[in-house]
Formats: sequence, C-alpha cells, structure tokens
Amino acid sequence: METLISTIAEKVVEPIVDYTVAPIARQVGYLIFYKDNFTNLKDQLAELKTIKETINREVEAERRNGYQINDAVKNWLEKVDETIEAAKKLSDDPHHSNAGCCRGPFPDLKSRHQLSRKAKKMSRNVDEVMQRKDNIKPLGYLPALEGVGSTSATSSEKLESRKKMKEDIVLALKDPNLSQVGVYGLGGVGKTTLVKEIAKQVKDENLFDEVVMAHISQTPDLEKIQREIADFLGLRFEETTIVGRASRLRQRIKSEKSILVILDDLWSTLDLDKLGISLKDHKGCKLLLTSRNLDILQKMETQKDFLVDVLNEDESWSLFEDMVGDVVKDDNLRSVAIQVAQKCAGLPVLTVIVARALKNKGSINSWKDSLNQLKTVDKEGMNGIIYSALEFSYNHLENDELKALFLLCGVISSSSNEYLMKCAIGLGIFKHVTT
Ligand SMILES: Nc1ncnc2c1ncn2[C@@H]1O[C@H](COP(=O)(O)OP(=O)(O)OP(=O)(O)O)[C@@H](O)[C@H]1O
Ligand SMILES: [Mg+2]
Repeated sequence: METLISTIAEKVVEPIVDYTVAPIARQVGYLIFYKDNFTNLKDQLAELKTIKETINREVEAERRNGYQINDAVKNWLEKVDETIEAAKKLSDDPHHSNAGCCRGPFPDLKSRHQLSRKAKKMSRNVDEVMQRKDNIKPLGYLPALEGVGSTSATSSEKLESRKKMKEDIVLALKDPNLSQVGVYGLGGVGKTTLVKEIAKQVKDENLFDEVVMAHISQTPDLEKIQREIADFLGLRFEETTIVGRASRLRQRIKSEKSILVILDDLWSTLDLDKLGISLKDHKGCKLLLTSRNLDILQKMETQKDFLVDVLNEDESWSLFEDMVGDVVKDDNLRSVAIQVAQKCAGLPVLTVIVARALKNKGSINSWKDSLNQLKTVDKEGMNGIIYSALEFSYNHLENDELKALFLLCGVISSSSNEYLMKCAIGLGIFKHVTT
C-alpha cells in the first residue's frame, strides 16, 4: 500500500505540483521580490563594470607591448557594453514609478511583475557575460615580424645597373649549384640597399620560405647577430650561451625547407658554425654575403661574387634629380646642378647626402658655393671625395648640437645607438634633453 502511495506521489502529485504550483510560485515571486531582483542586478552590474575596467587596462598594456588583440576580446567588450546599456534602460523604465509601493497601497501589479521578471532574466545574462571572461584569455598574440626589406623605401627600378644586378643575383640564388653568393663594392655604393631589395623580391616571389638578415659590422657581436636572425624567425632563445643558441638556431634553420640568410657588411671572416648557420647538410639554406672587400668574400668561400659599381652619369643625375626635387627644373640652376651631381662621382651615398642638403635651395649662389666646396677627385681618389662630401654634409647641419653628435659618431667605434646616446648625454651635447 505504502509503495503504491509513494508511486502515486512520485508519478502523479509531484508533476502536478511541478507544472502548477511552481510556475504560480515563480510568478508570485516576481511580484514579491521586485526590489530584491533590481538590487541584485545593480550589484552584478557594478561587478561587471569593474571586470570590464580591469580587462580594458590589460588590453591597453598588451597593445603597448605590440600584441594584437583577439577578436573574441573585442566581441566580449562589445557584449559587456550592450548588456550594461540594456540594464540601464531597464532601470530607467518609466513604469517603475507605478510598480513600487511608495506610490500608495496599490502598485501597478502588471508593471511590477514584468519589470521584476525582466530584471531576473537580465541578471542571468549579466552572469553569463561575466563567466565568459575566463574564456577570452590570452587577450592577444604577438604578430610575426615583417620580413627583411619591408621598410625599404628606395627602389632601384629607375637605375638600370642596379636593376640588372638585382636580376643577376636573383638568378644566382635560384641556381641549385650555388649556395653562397657575394656582393662587394665601395662603402656607400649601395650594397645594403641592394640586398634589402633582393630580400623583398625573393620573399614576394616565394623563392624562399624565409629570408633573414643580420648586420655584421667591423666588430661582430655574435650574440647580437644570433638574436637578429632569431627575431626574424620568431624564435625565442632560452639558451644562455653562444654555443647553446647556435645549436637551437641550427635546428630552427633546418626546419625551414628553404631559407635565405643575408649577412651584411663583413669586415673579416666569420665563423658560421659558431653562429649556428650550417650549409653542409641543408640544401635549402643559402647565404648572401656583402663586404667592401672581395678578399673577405673569397675567404668565406662564396661561389659567385658581384661587384656593385658606382652609378653612371645618367643614373647619378636621375637619383640626384629625384632626391633634390623640383628646384632643378629651373633652367638657370640646372647646369650648375648637373655639375654638382657629377662631383658625387656616382656614389649613391654622396649623391643622396648632397641632394638632401640642397633640396629646396632656390638661389643660384648657394648652388655655386656648393659646387666650389665639393672637391673634384678622380675615381682613384674616392676617399678624397668621401671626405669632401662628409665635410659638405657637416657644414650643412642645422645647429651645433647636430654637429657635435656627428663628430661623436665619428670617434665612437661601437655601433650601439644606446651607447652613443649615453656618451652624448654624459658629455652634455643635448641642451634640452635630461633623461
Ligand atoms: N638604389 C638606391 N636608390 C637610392 N638611394 C640609394 C640607393 N643605393 C644606395 N642609396 C643611398 O646610399 C646610401 C648608402 O647605401 P648603402 O648603405 O646601401 O651602401 P653600402 O654599400 O651598403 O655601404 P657600406 O659599405 O658603408 O655598408 C643609402 O642610405 C641611400 O641613401
Ligand atoms: Mg652596407
């Protein structure tokens, strides 16, 4: 008998209570807990706003560190704003004035019920949005670095000799029998500019999966070179020694099917193995080296070397004209300008320096003065030309602060900008900089 009663209670009475009493109780609850529901919603919104501010601060910090913020975070923040706005609208609903008890003994029950029900539902939404904050981390990611040459603004397309040389070097890099190619020529003739353009071209044409570049300089710093290459590959070293990093770098380079490593500005031979670059057992890895000195390239065992020569007269003028701007369209100036350009002896670095110094100088006298200041030296005396152009450039610096900094660059052999700045500040060169 008892079993029968409990079965009836379980199977018949409970569902009836569930389907009749519970919904009625819920509806009545909306009327009774109207105030509580809104107090609860207000508290939840205050908490949501605090969370939103914290996330916003974290997003800003990530952005300052160069991170890209994930779309999920942006969507969540939008959702938070929408929720706060909707809750505000509900709190400001004009029907509240009739729904409360303060308006007399008989509040508008319909408004009270509807508002309370909406507040309860809104609370659930707010709760859901708050829970989702745990799913939006990490907030962002570090985008891959742009490749070598992506910031190079120069284009040698107009300079026939450079265009041809670029084509020849790319052909050599395509040659399966060549793994080390060299580029050499005078200082300032345009080797670095050329290899950067080549880097961009081979990357754009998908000749190599990866192109990395490091500046070697007169005093090579192996750790700095390893880190430069690693940065391009998005590799973070945990190893603390040169040998350890070399091993990691070798492993990483090997994981690329095809990779071009550009080592720019060699002044002496470099132990590639010590750096972590090995061509022996990786056919997909090729090297492009630059140096002022062919001897160095040959000691590094390059298989084909390209001489970057000075520009011919037409190219030199074309570069000068491009740099100096419209001022040389004036017929009176033009012939002096052509002579000034000739004094730069086809060396791009000088052509650019001199053209920049004379940009927008409309007076024929300043052009004539410049012509007298630039010494004429034949090709063998290139050093003389370089000094003459340096002196010219120095004289055209705008103030003593710049001139002092220029001279300091000349006596400091370190290639670190930070060290240069420290010395300049220590020597009191900057008049308006204290930190
Ligand atoms: N193709 C070019 N178009 C425009 N300007 C150029 C070009 N090539 C070189 N230059 C100018 O000459 C300057 C020196 O060029 P670059 O640094 O490439 O010479 P470099 O041969 O690498 O010299 P270094 O031996 O001192 O490293 C550049 O900063 C740029 O102003
Ligand atoms: Mg260079």
